[in-house]
Amino acid sequence: MKRLLIGHSAPLRGAVAVNGAKNAVLPILAAALLTDEPCEIDGVPHVTDVATMRAILDELGVRTDDIKGAIRTRPGAGGTTASYELVRMMRASVCVLGPLLAKRGTAKVSMPGGCVIGPRPIDLHLKGLRALGASIEIEHGYIVAHATRLRGAHVLLGGAFGSSVLATANVMMAAALAEGETVIEQAACEPEVSDLADCLSAMGARIAGRGTPVLTIEGVRRLRGVRYRIIPDRIEAGTLMMAAAITGGDVLVDGARAEHLGALIEQLREAGVEIEPRPGAVRVRAPRRLRATEVTALPYPGFPTDLQAQIMALMTVAEGVSVVTEKVYPERFMHVPELLRMGAQITREGSRAVVKGVPRLSGAPVVASDLRASAGLILAGLAADNSTELRGIEHLSRGYQALGAQLVALGADIREIDDPDGGRTGGEDALTLESFQEMRGDGVR
Ligand code: EPZ
Repeated sequence: MKRLLIGHSAPLRGAVAVNGAKNAVLPILAAALLTDEPCEIDGVPHVTDVATMRAILDELGVRTDDIKGAIRTRPGAGGTTASYELVRMMRASVCVLGPLLAKRGTAKVSMPGGCVIGPRPIDLHLKGLRALGASIEIEHGYIVAHATRLRGAHVLLGGAFGSSVLATANVMMAAALAEGETVIEQAACEPEVSDLADCLSAMGARIAGRGTPVLTIEGVRRLRGVRYRIIPDRIEAGTLMMAAAITGGDVLVDGARAEHLGALIEQLREAGVEIEPRPGAVRVRAPRRLRATEVTALPYPGFPTDLQAQIMALMTVAEGVSVVTEKVYPERFMHVPELLRMGAQITREGSRAVVKGVPRLSGAPVVASDLRASAGLILAGLAADNSTELRGIEHLSRGYQALGAQLVALGADIREIDDPDGGRTGGEDALTLESFQEMRGDGVR
């Protein structure tokens, strides 16, 4: 396993292209289980979460091949079990549950385990599928589900922390092949959910209300194969925009869709950044020093939780006092102690962090706890004196195809170096709170 060495960066300049959306492609690949015909998905990013989803599909009898930048899925008779070994690598694996049930009438999917960004229950997934008539039991760590034919129903998918992206995806995919009409209320409105709805519609599903909290799905008997291009990754785009902002740079982010990034654009403008939306791109021009701002992570169209660590990095060097509130995953603050090691001034009170901007961070060895924390620490490293050594970069490759290389092409000084300890590998749940503290040297509390 490698580490990243990040040097203090001059203002980033130039143009950079955004890859396809990781969180759109995962459920869209799972949707290949709903049809007997091949599908071709374009714009798939080369990230390890996609590799995990391909391994799960393989376990379920769906072959996947790379063809000129796309992935072709070829259905075959297959199993109905998604094993613990794979599901523990990636919680998003749970989105094969709905398609398996709807198409094969039975599914056995490992219960996702613990997660470093906080509790992530799946009660809404199960509630929605039960409402469609599935019988579901938890047996020996597996969700065991059966249904002869699912039936349309009225389903409310709101939870204590708002809507759920993957529960909406699961129920929408199951309802596409159910008998009769399903209405999902409090559906997630994230662009990735709309992308799935568009892909399913191109396969012959009948879905109304995409992008709104009420989805109406009229079940059909069969879905056909599809050739579909997924949307650009708004989280990667947002991360690149903030890299430009934290270095006082001037960058054209090609593939950033302003309509998917409204909340971020508003925050960056408040922080003094000039944002110029263009067709299919966004130009970011930042001042030497940003201004403090107040950010609350919320379900879409609110500020994305997947950009919370990154904007907090920006606020650590902004002028004034910022408040960052996390309402999707109230415990998603594992990056805070690492930012403190770099000289940031942050006090955390429950789901809120108060960030007092300092003129400069100070480079230090830091550990990434998860995918987005890694991105936040890289941005912090760009604004820090000397160099920052980031460990745990296996998380980064789960969701960013080449963030380091993209930043280097814009002028950043980032190098991969060998990890003398050999590093550590593993899946999403492999890094628990305890192992993270242990790696950081805090000991287990
Ligand atoms: C998706 O996860 C994303 N993953 C996450 O991205 C993202 O952080 C999250 O949505 C929120 O935007 C994928 O799309 C593959 P949720 P998901 O269900 O669907 C609670 C990244 O870094 N909840 O929308 O699993 C839950 O605990 C990742 O790319 C329930 O209470 O998230 C949270 O508080 C990490 N019961 C809130 O809802 C449930 O049954 C939103 O979670 C399900 C969720």
